Amino acid sequence: MAISINELPGVGAEILGVDLAGGLDSSELEAIKKTFAHHGLVFFRDQAISETDHIELAKRFGDINVNRFFASNPDYPEIAMVSKEPDQIANIGGGWHTDHSYDQEPALGSILVARELPPAGGDTWFTSMYKAYDNLSDGLKETLEGLSAVHSAKHVFGPQAGYAATESASGRIGNAGATIELEDPIHPVVISHPLSGRKALYVNAAFTLRFDGWTAEESAPLLAYLYEHAIDDANVTRFKWEKGSVAFWDNRATWHFAQNDYQGQRRVMHRITIDGCALQAAKH
Ligand code: SIN
Repeated sequence: MAISINELPGVGAEILGVDLAGGLDSSELEAIKKTFAHHGLVFFRDQAISETDHIELAKRFGDINVNRFFASNPDYPEIAMVSKEPDQIANIGGGWHTDHSYDQEPALGSILVARELPPAGGDTWFTSMYKAYDNLSDGLKETLEGLSAVHSAKHVFGPQAGYAATESASGRIGNAGATIELEDPIHPVVISHPLSGRKALYVNAAFTLRFDGWTAEESAPLLAYLYEHAIDDANVTRFKWEKGSVAFWDNRATWHFAQNDYQGQRRVMHRITIDGCALQAAKH
């Protein structure tokens, strides 16, 4: 079957006619890379993909970044377990965010494979940071292009913070709360996307603390405006997982939000994250 691309109205594209477990040939790989660079998000359906296939697939796009906070799959340390048990309250990724903006070289993206789904709920929402930038006024674009922002994970993954304060006692969320060296990197607010060269807005509610050179208080109103602007309904895709679904998102071009609306049910996803690079400011 020939590969075909079905662009989605919000963000992302569904790629049909590929078998991710079958070893992609070079033309399939090129088509996926091109679609991924353009949309920042691709989905696949009805895939029978083993853990080993998942690892091999990720390696076609870059080096694997082993997550330092989440529990690893006991047999495959490259795979982070994004799981929620029936008696857990909090989930992983339950708010709009992009992964790893707290790293000096933020991860390229992640490939998420559905392993066990609740009977209803547990969708993942995505939005486009290309569109978030494109839809700003020229005046605000110009202001933001001169700015950088400070990012951090200390309030999320540090001791007594976020995950640690909620559910680490269950021992289910890997190293949350452990003493892991965490830096607070500074990234441009408008980046030139490393794969597409397009301009993308690069701040997020989970990990951005403030604009560099501004106080948190001064930064809050403009950040709040950008966070609201970025989740304009027209730019959002609400992805409904099914058995065999795979999502591959670019952390520099999208945000995502794992819905936590299936209390009392189990949801198990396997995530592999791929290394990225330092981010460059977009040129005026
Ligand atoms: C995440 O990586 O933030 C979780 C995504 C999901 O479980 O849908």
